[in-house]
Amino acid sequence: MELDSNRELQLDRGSTGTRYYRNAVERHWDPGEIDLSEDSERLIEYLQTTEDSDEVFDVVRQNIARFGAGEQAVTEDLAPLATALDNLDDQMFLTTQIYEEAKHTDFFDRYWREVIHTAEDELGYERSSPTDPVWYNDAYDELFERNERAMEALLDDPTPDTFAVAYCHYHLTIEGILAQTGYYGMQQSFAPDSHPELPSLPGLHRGFTKIRQDEGRHVGFGMTKLKELITEDGVDPTLLSETVMELMPLVNGITAEETEQNAELGPTPDELRAYASGKHTDRMEQITDASEEIPDVETLTQLDGAGAD
Ligand SMILES: [Fe+2]
Ligand SMILES: [Fe+2]
Repeated sequence: MELDSNRELQLDRGSTGTRYYRNAVERHWDPGEIDLSEDSERLIEYLQTTEDSDEVFDVVRQNIARFGAGEQAVTEDLAPLATALDNLDDQMFLTTQIYEEAKHTDFFDRYWREVIHTAEDELGYERSSPTDPVWYNDAYDELFERNERAMEALLDDPTPDTFAVAYCHYHLTIEGILAQTGYYGMQQSFAPDSHPELPSLPGLHRGFTKIRQDEGRHVGFGMTKLKELITEDGVDPTLLSETVMELMPLVNGITAEETEQNAELGPTPDELRAYASGKHTDRMEQITDASEEIPDVETLTQLDGAGAD
């Protein structure tokens, strides 16, 4: 083993990596402890008493399937970054991120077993599967395949540009744009008593609250590393904007279809687009403008809209 003798103690407590690691430990939550019993009751009641509720049920299932598959993909694809990073504090943080992506996967798997299947059984529907290709489209598959390739490139060629491209795929686009906007929209739609035309799903809402806090920290780590790559390693900021721009047609290919189906549900497509582009513009400024700072971890894990509970 190699100990860094330049360090008097093991960890740099002021570093982003170790501070974010501590924040993750202090905010630990267990996806198995979120009470989902009310969700199945509310969903069954809604499906039994609401006209055309099958369409809403399909939207709920498609969203849960996609969130679950996305969390599974990012759980599986993060490990190359942990291998390529050579700073202990960064690695401390990465252990929490891999663990948290696994917890998010766990939550959605549990939701399908305990809420979706329970509702389907009660109503006499055939049990559906979150791995059924019917829930996905080509843009979805392509985006996650590109992410996997961008992460695996770190194993062969861990240059500053390869790191930057990897963070742009994983942290800025998939987590920062696709997931955070999707979670925000779903959480707004199914928050207890916020949209009377939809079932309120309190367990889903609580899970999203926890997941969104974790994702805020993950995105913040990616932003911090990108800023370092620009200021310390000479990465050209246009590489960041070009990489994200290349991926945006895929993100739009996923969300355009979803918003068409969700047209009557929760926030409007325009509201979601404005939310996503506003967040992204702010982040790019914080990364590329030397006079701007990345928000602190407490701010990153605060939620806007549909507050924490
Ligand atoms: Fe996640
Ligand atoms: Fe994440």
